[in-house]
Amino acid sequence: MSGMQKFRNIILCGDCIEILRSVGEPFADLIFADPPFNIGYQYDKYRDRVEKNRYLAWTRDWMSACLGVLKPTGSFYIAIGDDYAAHVRLIGEDLGLTLRNWIIWHYTFGQQTRNKFARSHTHIFYFVKNPKQFTFNDWAVRVPSDRQLVYNDKRAQSCGKLPDDVWNTYSRVCGTFRERQGWHPCQMPELLLARIISASSNPGDCVLDPFVGSGTTAAAAFQLGRDYCGIDISEQYVENTRKRLTDLQKTRISGPLSMHEMLELKRLVFEIGRPADAYQMNEKLTQLFCRQFAVRMNNCKHYKPDMILPLLPEICPCQGRK
Ligand SMILES: C[S@@+](CC[C@H](N)C(=O)[O-])C[C@H]1O[C@@H](n2cnc3c(N)ncnc32)[C@H](O)[C@@H]1O
Repeated sequence: MSGMQKFRNIILCGDCIEILRSVGEPFADLIFADPPFNIGYQYDKYRDRVEKNRYLAWTRDWMSACLGVLKPTGSFYIAIGDDYAAHVRLIGEDLGLTLRNWIIWHYTFGQQTRNKFARSHTHIFYFVKNPKQFTFNDWAVRVPSDRQLVYNDKRAQSCGKLPDDVWNTYSRVCGTFRERQGWHPCQMPELLLARIISASSNPGDCVLDPFVGSGTTAAAAFQLGRDYCGIDISEQYVENTRKRLTDLQKTRISGPLSMHEMLELKRLVFEIGRPADAYQMNEKLTQLFCRQFAVRMNNCKHYKPDMILPLLPEICPCQGRK
């Protein structure tokens, strides 16, 4: 089996640096990395508090191991906390990457503090290997503009607008969420990964996560019809992630939409942020929603309100959660 095939649709247990250095040929179209932030989180097998220079040397090592397996047209997203964001940005530049966006993921459900402002964001760097050749599916991530949603302004572009680089529509995965796995201390939301994967890869591409944790990246990639490769140093996390994926593979979708369409529908619902009854009562909003969804799916299909409306109550914000 070639390196390309061997690393597709697999969750591997081990040190990502060792594994990726042993590969030999680029296989990833997109890498999403959410490493330990060196802030003392309790992981199963990794001690998340090491001396600063050691952490920085390790960061450079895993980033360069990732670069070795990223295709020349590939994109590389890295989530990181305040303490090391500046370092990661500079290491990326030093390794020859081009920064396309410095994204702030702002989550309102943050950590409590006693004597300073509460931290409520994570940095996400969006790098590419080649600034002239990369995948960016703008249609897949467009959102309705305020001109469309609020002001009813005829000058609005009918395909919506590109989102800002401050992302504030994805909450952290709280303990009560249906999506919550419960066995990992810092699970990322699937919808945030879905935005990244939809923008920076195409169906059939390979998405790598060298710190797969609870398996979010792999789960989102699978639902969106991409191949995945996940690595984690913890046997327990790997076993649980494999089970998460097996359960997803067994999921039978009843209804008119595919698994890919259902995740994209949920993403659009959350990004617009209106409750289900807002659509029931507002025909214009429903039409706008259906049109934006069709833009995102980009498959020449027509999504009629009577197909979409019955699906919304289960997935609208504040509904369908425990
Ligand atoms: C911040 S968590 C990733 C969470 C993940 N994004 C999610 O949504 O669940 C970091 C993960 O890196 C893993 N890890 C730490 N060192 C590693 C290494 N050298 N190779 C692979 N995984 C490692 C930890 O076990 C932990 O699960």
